[in-house]
Amino acid sequence: MAFNKLTIKDVDITKKRVLIRVDFNAPLDNEGNITDVRKIAAYLPTINYAMSQKAKIILMSHLGRPKGKVVPELSLQRIAIKLGELLKTEVSFVGDCIGENVQKLVMAMNPCEVMLLENLRFYQEEEANDPNFAKELASSGEVYVDDAFGAVHRAHASVSAITKYFDKAVAGFLMEKEMEYLDRVLTNPPKPFVIAIGGSKVSTKMGIVEHLIKKADLFLIGGGMSYTFQKALGKTIGSSLVGENYVPIIKKLLEENMGKIVLPLDYKITDMFSKTEYGNVQTTVDENIPDGWMGLDIGPKTIEKFIMKLDGAGCILWNGPFGVIEIPEFAVGTTKMAYAISDSAAVTIAGGGETAESINSLEIAHKFNHISTGGGACLEFLEGRELPGLAVLTDKGINTDC
Ligand code: 3PG
Repeated sequence: MAFNKLTIKDVDITKKRVLIRVDFNAPLDNEGNITDVRKIAAYLPTINYAMSQKAKIILMSHLGRPKGKVVPELSLQRIAIKLGELLKTEVSFVGDCIGENVQKLVMAMNPCEVMLLENLRFYQEEEANDPNFAKELASSGEVYVDDAFGAVHRAHASVSAITKYFDKAVAGFLMEKEMEYLDRVLTNPPKPFVIAIGGSKVSTKMGIVEHLIKKADLFLIGGGMSYTFQKALGKTIGSSLVGENYVPIIKKLLEENMGKIVLPLDYKITDMFSKTEYGNVQTTVDENIPDGWMGLDIGPKTIEKFIMKLDGAGCILWNGPFGVIEIPEFAVGTTKMAYAISDSAAVTIAGGGETAESINSLEIAHKFNHISTGGGACLEFLEGRELPGLAVLTDKGINTDC
């Protein structure tokens, strides 16, 4: 289904103050350096387009979770510098996102200028979806564009309440691209449709499994969530991660979808694990894990079987690592699967923060058709939930007089 919301191309932005919600929530190291520019570079098409229309571009974003307090380490100043490098133009930075000074600077902008406001979440009113705060934010722009797919699942002031102060709320190009790829997966995926899913907690992934089980032809389940599936089948899982509450639901799911769900055949296990430290390492002979041991990666037989199952796929959706990727010893399954998926002739779509990080660290991002910039947003979309930031965007066919 084509994206049915107005986009930045559907409105006249020439020489106007265009307020664009982006999601510059880029990963930072302990010193606050940006470790991956993907979450900044993803917005260049929209910003460049606005510049080509001689708009005055005002960007607003969150970074991290400062919970309504000014946290200097979470200032967007460094992001402004990085964005300037990527755009090859100066990006001015304002140390606030509302107030008189912001207004003065915004009103003095020239066409093609780009300005980044300070972290929206330094105000608790942002997460509270406060209408007055939203009104103040809105006063900076004549046109509102939401391009922040990564924040579309948040009913926050800069995403939700703000739209009340504009005739139209339109999407940017990233939002449009994300929705088109992900929507295709939900409505009309090229067949056979294979979903490879991992991640540590079964609780955060069951929504996707339940929502997509009927649409998928095969579900390859690895990572921490797979131990609960093994337990539901009566296998021993030692001290591996388990979501006990999910065992009955999974039992039923497995009974109803025989043959569709493919589980690991073996695991790489350890007898001691704490954050980055681990004890002895072994590979199991089958899916059973002995007492006192825990699974931290899929084993070689599983990797071979999973890769075989990708053969001939029309579409592969990948979400979540298959082991503890922070430790190279337990990142083998994820790495091998990442290479196999990237080499596939299928339409390949990846979602989730850790999945994207794995792909980027292997420098194979260019081999995927689409890598979502959204973590929670991507999950919620794939679970079939309504996204508040999407619901408030103006539908095509309504108010198209521009
Ligand atoms: C993300 O990184 O997934 C988005 O920026 C949303 O961040 P949040 O989970 O802190 O709202």
